[in-house]
Amino acid sequence: MSTFPNRRLRRLRKSEKIRELVQETRLSTKDFICPVFVQEDLKKSVKIDSMPDIERFPLDGINDEVDRIIDLGIPAIMLFGLPSSKDDVGSAAFDENGIVQKAITQIRKNFGDKIAIMADVCLCQYTKSGHCGIIKDNKIDNDSSIETLAKIAVSQAKAGVDVVSPSAMMDGQVITIRRGLDDAGFSDVAIMSHSAKHRSSFYSPFRDAAECAPQFGDRKTYQIPFSNAREAMREVEMDVNEGVDIVMIKPALAYLDIIAETKKRFNVPISAYSVSGEYALVKGAAKQGWIQENDVITEILYSIKRAGADMIVTYFAKSGAKILNE
Ligand code: PBG
Repeated sequence: MSTFPNRRLRRLRKSEKIRELVQETRLSTKDFICPVFVQEDLKKSVKIDSMPDIERFPLDGINDEVDRIIDLGIPAIMLFGLPSSKDDVGSAAFDENGIVQKAITQIRKNFGDKIAIMADVCLCQYTKSGHCGIIKDNKIDNDSSIETLAKIAVSQAKAGVDVVSPSAMMDGQVITIRRGLDDAGFSDVAIMSHSAKHRSSFYSPFRDAAECAPQFGDRKTYQIPFSNAREAMREVEMDVNEGVDIVMIKPALAYLDIIAETKKRFNVPISAYSVSGEYALVKGAAKQGWIQENDVITEILYSIKRAGADMIVTYFAKSGAKILNE
């Protein structure tokens, strides 16, 4: 016996075509930003144990990798550099002949505008301390750090970067970088800030990949505690007020609530960073045969879009694109 009206949500699930029509979230290769690790003085590419299928490339291995990324229909890369030498102030990060600056120049020369070039702006790969800022009196000093971040951004802009992506979680990093870029004549270079970057244990595979683990202490004095959502909104709000172009929420999967809340509150493009630990969990379980890798990758990427992300920085960019292109 049915009651009137006869409510049946299954009507819209009955065939593939009808399901396609009512599909609320769409995932495309155009949503992806592919991280690329480039290492100075490397002879040939090296695999990263904790991140299966991800490699660090030497400068001359970058072209082939970018070629593959473009072929898959992915619109952007995010460059991370590993310098040969580190010092107290992270000089290699703003060296005009630094590894990232060289990579940007080379990619721009070879590929023009076929790929959007984004680059990480941080100090932890470049400082002896492995911290994201400069140390003064045994503390991570905010204001000298943001000045250095602006220098890094300008050096990348000179090399031809499209988007700089500060990940240091220093206060005022966006406005200081914006001023630095504008003063140097790069008002067209956009800023995608790691606005709400939480202090997360999901970053550890990345620290193997980028050799940037803190040599003392941890990142609790600058990254957001994972218990705090309101504080994450304050970070986003600050960046929006400082003129950020794209805000980033990081990590993604354990922080879908933060993505959804940002979408509700702000009129700004949202990027989500599905981090190394999220990648490693899937790869590890798939290797054991415990999950269907491609299905889980697809579901995770959809969930990040469904939560409200416009774009996703993900180590699944290439594999996700292959799945979508099939
Ligand atoms: C550091 C940085 C980190 C990541 C991106 N930039 C690590 C950290 O904060 O310790 C993590 C990315 C990932 O795990 O994939 N500036």
